[in-house]
This record gives sequence, C-alpha cells and structure tokens, in this order.
Amino acid sequence: MDIIRDDAIDPAPLAGKRVAIIGYGNQGRAQALNLADSGIDLVIGLREGSDTFDKVRADGLTPVNIEDAPKGAALTMMLVPDEQMTGIYGVIEPALEHGSALGFSHGLAEHFGYIDPREDLDVILVAPKGPGTALRQLYTEGKGMPALWAVSTDKSGKAKQIALAYGKAIGCARAGLIASSFEEECVADLFNEQAVVWGGVPALLLAGYETLVEAGYSEEVAYFECITELKLLADLIEARGIAGMREAISNTAELGAVLGGPAIVDFPVRKRMREILKSVQQGEFAAQLAEEAAEGYPLLKKMRAEAGDHASEVTLAKLARLSPNKPSSD
Ligand SMILES: NC(=O)c1ccc[n+]([C@@H]2O[C@H](COP(=O)([O-])OP(=O)(O)OC[C@H]3O[C@@H](n4cnc5c(N)ncnc54)[C@H](OP(=O)(O)O)[C@@H]3O)[C@@H](O)[C@H]2O)c1
Repeated sequence: MDIIRDDAIDPAPLAGKRVAIIGYGNQGRAQALNLADSGIDLVIGLREGSDTFDKVRADGLTPVNIEDAPKGAALTMMLVPDEQMTGIYGVIEPALEHGSALGFSHGLAEHFGYIDPREDLDVILVAPKGPGTALRQLYTEGKGMPALWAVSTDKSGKAKQIALAYGKAIGCARAGLIASSFEEECVADLFNEQAVVWGGVPALLLAGYETLVEAGYSEEVAYFECITELKLLADLIEARGIAGMREAISNTAELGAVLGGPAIVDFPVRKRMREILKSVQQGEFAAQLAEEAAEGYPLLKKMRAEAGDHASEVTLAKLARLSPNKPSSD
C-alpha cells in the first residue's frame, strides 16, 4: 500500500493560493483551522443568514456568501452534508474558477452521481479517518490523523500534487496519506457505518443489555457488562490489535471470547454483511439517503426519538449519578 508522509510532499501546489471551504461544521471547522495554522489563505462559504458567520469571525477566519466563496480559489472543498451536495454544487458552480480543483472528504456525492463536476475541474478526495474534533486536536498536539486520498479527474495533470499538499496542510500527512479511490473510500466507509462499527456494534450492545435484563439481571450490571466495557476493548485494540487485546485479558474471558464470537457472528450474519455491501455498491443506500433528505429526514427523526426513549438511557442516567466526577443534583 502506498502511504505518503509529510517529508515527501511538496506544499507548493497550495502555497500562495486561496482555498475555499464550503461549510463550517464537523470537518469544515477543523480543516479550516488547521489550514489557517499551516499558513494557507482561505475563505469560508456559508449560506445566506447562517448563524455560523459570527462563529467563523470569532475563530479569526473570513466568512463569505456561499455563491461567492470559490471566486479566486485554486481549490474549493465541499465540507457540507453529503445529501445536500446536489443543491449546494448548483449554487457554487458558476463561481468555480476555470481549471481549479474541487475537493471532497467523502466519495459518496461524486461516486453515486449526486453531482456531476464541470469538465474543466480537477476532482480530488482527502478523507480524514475520524471526526473533525479529533482532527483539530491532533493537529494542535503536533500529531496528525491518517487520511485517504484519491483523484477522479486530473484535468491539470497536477491533481495528485494538490490532494497531497492539502492533506499536508490539514496535518494528515504527519500520520500518513493512503492512496485509495472515490469508490473504495465511499463503499468501505458506508459498509462500516452500516454493518460494523456504527450500526452493528451498538445493535449488538443493546441486544446484549436486553438479553440480561429480560433474564432478570439488574439494569445497572447489564449496562456495565454490555455497554460500558466497550471503551476498555476499544482502548486495548487501539494499543495492541485484536490478538494483543486477547493476551491482556484473563483465560476465562479469552476462552469465552473465542467460543462466543464465532457463535454470534455466524454464517447468516456474514451473509447479511455481504448483502449490505452489495446494496451499498449498487447505490441503493445512496438513493435512500437522497430520498430521506428530500422528505425532511422522517426516518432519522423517528429513530432519534426512539433511541432517547430506550431503557438503557434511563440506566445510563442512574449510573451517571454514581459517577464520582458528577456533582449530585439530589
Ligand atoms: N463528520 C465527520 O467527522 C466526517 C469525517 C470524515 C468525512 N466527513 C465528510 O465531510 C463532509 C462534511 O461532513 P460534516 O459532518 O463536517 O458536515 P456537517 O457538520 O453536517 O456540515 C455542516 C455545515 O454544512 C452547512 N450546510 C448544511 N446544509 C447546508 C445547505 N443546504 N446549504 C448550505 N450549507 C449547508 C452548515 O451550514 P450552517 O453553518 O449554516 O448550519 C454547516 O456549516 C461530508 O462529505 C462527510 O461525509 C465527515
């Protein structure tokens, strides 16, 4: 695998050039602050009437109306919700400089055709592998978050150099820039969100909690066992890998894990994982996301309300009162 680090990257493609950041949310704010600290000239494009104008000014950066942001910019980064990109691209396209670069931090909008970038543009991807808060925190500590990079259109012949210079300026090359493609970054990311870390794991934790409570065990013990311990596992895996994690636990836990894991993640689970991967690859999820946004996010609103009502949330509130770091309100 091709991993490129700071020393191997020439910052020249962005030196003395302007970057336009569209959106100032999770990624927009973190990437913009890192760029500014790396000495890059930038503007932040926001929709008319946005409350975020004041926040950008308070951070010492320059907000402008979204439709003007790309004027004079060598690179315009689309750091807005993926499902809103069709409309937003339509608004900014007239201002994109001829022969400039258009950038993304996730491949979905380009890969699944939410947008059709103008033919004269370079189209690049620099996708940090984590949330904006951590991207910023690592940068301020002199470290970096790894990122995937890719080019889907190289009109200028310099798209790769622009992507790498951008990855360097947001601090990701300190950890490493990994060569990928829009398709690979997007499909692997959507698959993980649905089947593994963000979809599969929380569903498994709640199913475990419910199984213990249904069997008459206390909600607090069920919460500690099935939900709280996830952080211990994640820390061990981050530090030592999965084999190293197993070395750090008791023989009892290790034997239970090697017997129980495959019994839970059995053939039907793997079959459903492959089905999820296929539906992602075929664009079914991308179509569902666009439809959900067009209808005002009915499913997301319903699921958010239901998640807050789950019995485990009441248990969490009780346990929070036990925390030595929390002032008691009683
Ligand atoms: N979240 C992450 O940690 C993460 C990690 C890796 C990659 N990514 C990718 O990074 C990109 C940005 O994601 P994000 O999570 O940073 O987005 P986000 O926080 O939801 O973006 C919020 C920003 O988008 C603006 N915005 C929302 N809808 C808009 C509209 N219709 N017109 C104009 N502006 C609009 C908001 O404007 P206001 O300020 O006016 O509200 C705000 O500034 C996505 O491609 C995502 O997949 C995200």
